[in-house]
Amino acid sequence: MNVLLLGSGGREHAIAIALAKSPLLETLVVAPGNPGTDSIARAAPLDAADHPAVAVFCNANRVDLVVVGPEAPLVAGIVDELTAAGIKAFGPSKAAARLEGSKIFAKDFCRCHNIPCAAYACFADAASAKYYAREKGAPIVIKADGLAAGKGVTVAMSLEEAEAAIDGMFSGEFGAAGQTIVVEDFLDGEEVSFFALCDGVRAVEFASAQDHKRVGEGERGPNTGGMGAYSPAPVMDARMRERVMRTIVAPTLKGMAAMGAPFKGVLFAGLMICADGPRLIEYNVRFGDPETQAMLPRLEEDLLALLLASVEERLPERPVRLSTKTALSVVLAAKGYPGAPVLGSEIHGIERAGAMPFVSITHAGTKREGQRLIAGGGRVLNVTGVGADVAEARSRAYAAIEMIDWPGGFYRRDIGWRAFARDPVQLDRITPGRTRF
Ligand code: AMP
Ligand code: GLY
Repeated sequence: MNVLLLGSGGREHAIAIALAKSPLLETLVVAPGNPGTDSIARAAPLDAADHPAVAVFCNANRVDLVVVGPEAPLVAGIVDELTAAGIKAFGPSKAAARLEGSKIFAKDFCRCHNIPCAAYACFADAASAKYYAREKGAPIVIKADGLAAGKGVTVAMSLEEAEAAIDGMFSGEFGAAGQTIVVEDFLDGEEVSFFALCDGVRAVEFASAQDHKRVGEGERGPNTGGMGAYSPAPVMDARMRERVMRTIVAPTLKGMAAMGAPFKGVLFAGLMICADGPRLIEYNVRFGDPETQAMLPRLEEDLLALLLASVEERLPERPVRLSTKTALSVVLAAKGYPGAPVLGSEIHGIERAGAMPFVSITHAGTKREGQRLIAGGGRVLNVTGVGADVAEARSRAYAAIEMIDWPGGFYRRDIGWRAFARDPVQLDRITPGRTRF
């Protein structure tokens, strides 16, 4: 098969590595790709926002399947347009992608289908939103309705913070995405990312992971796109996975099909595991970044065959086969991130680091300048270690990072802390002196 993968992040490099292993694959093109994907696939200078250009490229290059990495083209309806042009595309339709594209749609959908989530109300003006927030009291959560690149959410610990966030959204901070907002109850618990592969009718369990959103160790500092992840998340034991599939994923599939928008692709449920059970924080309609870098090294079957089965509505009635090993992926970011990153610093040593056993390195914001590999974005590299448990995966990832010579970068040393907090025996197994918690 000829496959076109759209995207340019660490997630897409991890997907490309998994697709490249498939016996079904003839050629792989990644658009626009990055220096990591360039080393295993052909690059094409395509803009995923230009759907007709993508369709023309697919027809000219006999592309059999398009795999869409990021959410924006899905929410904009690329799968509908490609399907209409007779091209198979993995991911949800525009109507189904509203689960991520509109938080109000997602909340109303949950209410309608009894899917557990935080109590909420929607507002189109600041005065009523503030009145509601005052009635509820802090902590409280303020969300822009539309896509805001992960930045449209304020978890306000005080009413002043909540009111400032409401004013910010209605003053146009997030453009059209913030013209209507959701104000919802604060959920207390352990956050986890849960992924299911869907074909419109069936949803099969893929994997769980835990991301680390804050830039600083100990979950301090501003939010980022994610500074590291590991999979599986110990909080997702067999009972919890069954409960999430039954109370969240299955009703989502059923509800979307009933409204004529069957969900195909990856359903990424952002969950809070609360004292009274799992609750949905948000839906995403694609693979997570950096969760994917920690999930795909555990995959023990053909990713391309699975993605094709999703498109062709014939997913197997069983969970995806994954190894019981743990993978832990650390993000290396350019100094300054998540503010303006310092670009252009040179990176050395990734070949050595990537050659270590049970380690893989994926590129995100790297750039080639002649022979030099430099930082070209905020999140630049992911270093992933695989091991029998989280302690071993972690030791491998951090040992590989030490082989990388990049004074312009930084990373968190505490990726995986939730697993260690639950299991002190694992904490004892961390290589002494390397990392502090
Ligand atoms: P998002 O950008 O939608 O992923 O949300 C950012 C983060 O805000 C989430 O990952 C959660 O950590 C947090 N968050 C969102 N909604 C809630 C909530 N109702 N209660 C507590 N934390 C929340
Ligand atoms: N890691 C969170 C996301 O991909 O949205």
